[in-house]
Amino acid sequence: LLAALAAAARAEFPDKPVTLLVPFAAGGPSDKIARDLAEALRKPLGQTVIVDNTAGAGGTIGAARVARAVPDGYTLLVHHIGLATAPALYKKLSYRTLEDFEYLGLVNEAPSTLIGKPTLTANNFAELRQWIADNHGKVNLANAGVGSASHLCGLMLQSALKSNMTPVPYKGTAPAMTDLIGGQVDLMCEQATNATPQIEARKVKVFGVSSPQRMTLPLLAAVPTLSEAGLTGFNVTVWHGLYAPKGTPPAVLARLNAALRVALKDPELIKREEALGLTVVADERLAPAEHRKFVEAEMARWSKIIKDSGETAE
Ligand code: MLT
Repeated sequence: LLAALAAAARAEFPDKPVTLLVPFAAGGPSDKIARDLAEALRKPLGQTVIVDNTAGAGGTIGAARVARAVPDGYTLLVHHIGLATAPALYKKLSYRTLEDFEYLGLVNEAPSTLIGKPTLTANNFAELRQWIADNHGKVNLANAGVGSASHLCGLMLQSALKSNMTPVPYKGTAPAMTDLIGGQVDLMCEQATNATPQIEARKVKVFGVSSPQRMTLPLLAAVPTLSEAGLTGFNVTVWHGLYAPKGTPPAVLARLNAALRVALKDPELIKREEALGLTVVADERLAPAEHRKFVEAEMARWSKIIKDSGETAE
């Protein structure tokens, strides 16, 4: 295997299509981000880049698949904050976040938005807060499984409101959004990436954004942060990064990191992502060592939040 890997590294990598594995269902924020990235990686890699969805268990099934993939650079993982939080949420996890992956660089960051079904009578966060209190324990909160960004933001929301809601897990927030729009679930804390178009189309109600500062998108600039709306200090920013299995040859990693740097400067990608409320990560933050250090810090920060929230590991 090592000889084959070394040969792969020597050969003009990539000499066949590269796969970006997304650990959530198609159509959600992680999938949208991966498809944008695949498009922008085609030119710098000079190869076809395909996206493959392996959903389930809050993203941990897909992450495990890449951790076990042949480390030749042809199977990569596009994942987010869930990679840093799964160790605190799952007793039995079949991969180790820091040891089983090579870190290729962060991709982007986005706030989440607290959105509700269109038939909710509440028209602002204060009214929603009252409605949640009046319906204590009966509110359905959609997410993409334990460890997903929507689940984590939901944890923070319930802790801040001191209100337990009923989680409704999906394979991704795309199917969850369909049910929210249809009124089958009440609320969701969804990344702006997927929520922005639905808010724009007035298919869901928006009550706040999860970042410390308001969003700059004109459509959402008037939406208060949850912190200013009363949940002081509320802060959830969802970041996505690119990963390869541990043991991928250094020459291949360098080629992938260089291609990522080019892709994230693609004006088309930047325009598309900023229109969704995403911020593309600046070049100086794209060093693999920086990326790994950032994830390590996020692991520490979130394991404390998860412990304080009393969420038990699966
Ligand atoms: C999540 O963490 O909520 C996922 O990113 C949702 C998704 O991408 O489907």
